[in-house]
Amino acid sequence: MPKETLYKVLVIGDTSVGKTSFIMRYADNIFQESYIATIGMDYKLKNINLENGKLVKLQIWDTAGQEKFHSITKSFYKGANGIILIYSVIDNNSLNNVKKWMESIKAQVPDDVAVILVGNKKDDEEMRQVTAEQGEDMAENYKLPFFECSAKTGDNLDAAFDKLVKMMLEISQTAKKGKKLKQKQAGGNSKCC
Ligand code: GTP
Ligand code: MG
Repeated sequence: MPKETLYKVLVIGDTSVGKTSFIMRYADNIFQESYIATIGMDYKLKNINLENGKLVKLQIWDTAGQEKFHSITKSFYKGANGIILIYSVIDNNSLNNVKKWMESIKAQVPDDVAVILVGNKKDDEEMRQVTAEQGEDMAENYKLPFFECSAKTGDNLDAAFDKLVKMMLEISQTAKKGKKLKQKQAGGNSKCC
């Protein structure tokens, strides 16, 4: 692995589940109570120093959850290394719509893209509509790692991103090994024939 690796991460999910808040908390450690719908695409950079001294740079793309922007969101799937699919634990509909988001991911994203499922707003127990078990079941259905988080308190965000980074690194390493094997095989053939 080179000293520095850049990964493109996309954050998707229904409107108002807390995608922008999730990114702002993780990248800048800030949180805003007021809601401003995202209308364009923008990214934040976050550096992660690995234990082995290597640096991973995350380019974290925020997307607009509103239905009318979905076709634009889809056009950003291209080249993504990782996807964080978010629903809100205080919005049952947003969990149901995970199925739609997964269909769109499966239709357009290659298998070697890391995907995790996040149930956000876990701090708001009073308004909770989705149990942790329902989230786990949904994740299991699609074989996704699952995290309940809170962009408001910052709870569990590091764990979610750490897992995603680990998955992306593993995928890169497997791809690299496959490439080397192919080169070796090609070299072997040219020698023998
Ligand atoms: P779109 O840009 O329309 O797709 O929405 P979004 O998914 O980016 O949602 P956004 O981050 O703007 O958050 C929507 C509202 O939920 C805001 O009022 C946030 O303050 C609030 N919110 C976000 N995350 C949390 C959380 O973890 N807990 C609580 N209680 N509120 C949150
Ligand atoms: Mg937003």
